[in-house]
Amino acid sequence: MTDQAPAPYAGPERVLSGVQPTGDLHLGNYLGALVKFARLQHEIPTFIFVADLHAITAWQDPAKLKNQVREIAAAYLATGLDPKVATIFAQSAVPEHAELAWVFNCVARLGWLDRMTQFKDKAGKHKERESVGLYTYPVLQAADILAYKATKVPVGDDQKQHLELTRDIAQKFNNDFSAPNFFPLPEPLTQGPGARVMSLRDGTAKMSKSDPSDNSRINLTDDADAIAQKVRKARTDPDPLPETAEGLEGRAEARNLVAIYAALAGVTEAQVLAEYAGQGFGAFKPKLADLAVSVMGPIGGEMRRLLADPAEIDRILTDGGQRARALAAPTVAEVKKLVGYWAG
Ligand code: TRP
Repeated sequence: MTDQAPAPYAGPERVLSGVQPTGDLHLGNYLGALVKFARLQHEIPTFIFVADLHAITAWQDPAKLKNQVREIAAAYLATGLDPKVATIFAQSAVPEHAELAWVFNCVARLGWLDRMTQFKDKAGKHKERESVGLYTYPVLQAADILAYKATKVPVGDDQKQHLELTRDIAQKFNNDFSAPNFFPLPEPLTQGPGARVMSLRDGTAKMSKSDPSDNSRINLTDDADAIAQKVRKARTDPDPLPETAEGLEGRAEARNLVAIYAALAGVTEAQVLAEYAGQGFGAFKPKLADLAVSVMGPIGGEMRRLLADPAEIDRILTDGGQRARALAAPTVAEVKKLVGYWAG
C-alpha cells in the first residue's frame, strides 16, 4: 500500500455560530459577529442559535431566561439575519446538542480541558465552586458545531482555543469509532474589521459585557442620546489624528476609535485617516457619534419593536428549531450507531 493522505472531508460547507443569552450585546458583538452572520448567510448555509444551555453554566433567573433568549434573537433579526435564508434557533429546542455533548465528554480528555484559558479566567481562584457544566462548556460547544457538521465558525479571537478543541474532538471521534471524515474539522472565522473592538474607557481591554462600566461599551439597545454621550466621553489623547496608521502606534484609544469608525463606515483605517488627519478628537468624536447613531440607532429601534410583541420572534425560533433538529437528528442517530448504544 502506498502512503496516501486520507481523503479530505467531502461534505458541504456550513456556517454555525451562537451567542449566550447573558448580558447585553454591544458594538463589539455587532462588528465582530452579527455583521458577519448577516453577510455569510448569503454565501453558505448558515445556522445561528442562542446558547441557552451554555447560559446556565452560571445560574440564571428562570423567570428571565426565556426573554434573554428572545433579546438575542431580536438582535440577530435586527442586524440582518433573515429567517428565510438562515436557520435561527434556540439551543434548548434541539436536544441532540446535549446528547452529542455526552458522547464528546467521553471522547475529550481531561488534559485537553485543563488547558482551556476561558475556564481559568472565568473560574479564577475558586474553581472548586464552579459548576461542572462550566468546565465541560467547550465540549458542549463542540457538539453545537459538529451536530450540524459545520465547517466554518465565525467567532471572536477568544474562541480560537475552543475551536481547536472541537477539531481535536472531531478527529479523535473519527479515529476511535473508525469513521474517517465522519466529522469535519471546522475552522474559526475570526478575521474582519470588527475583530478587536476595545473598551471606550481603556483601549487595551476588549469591549465586554462583563465590564462594570456601562460607558465602556455601546449596547445594541442604547438610544441615540446614550450612544452619542458614550462616544463623547470615550477616553482619547490630546494629539491630532496622524496621517498614517503607523502614527497610531502606542495610542490604543485613538486607534480604537479610528478602527470603530472604519468598521461602521465600511472603509479602511487609512481612508479614515486620509479624511481626518491633523484634526483633534474635538472634531472627530462628533463625526463618530453621528455615524454610530446612524448605524446603531435603527438596530436598537428594531429590537425594541420586535420585543414589544415576542410572538413573531417565538414563531421564528420555533420554525428554526424544527429545521435545525431535522438536520442534527440524523447525524446524532448515526453517532449512536457508531458508538454502539443499545438504542442506537
Ligand atoms: N462560547 C461562545 C462564546 O462565548 C458561544 C458559543 C456556544 C458558540 N456554542 C457555540 C460559538 C458554537 C460558536 C459555535 O462566544
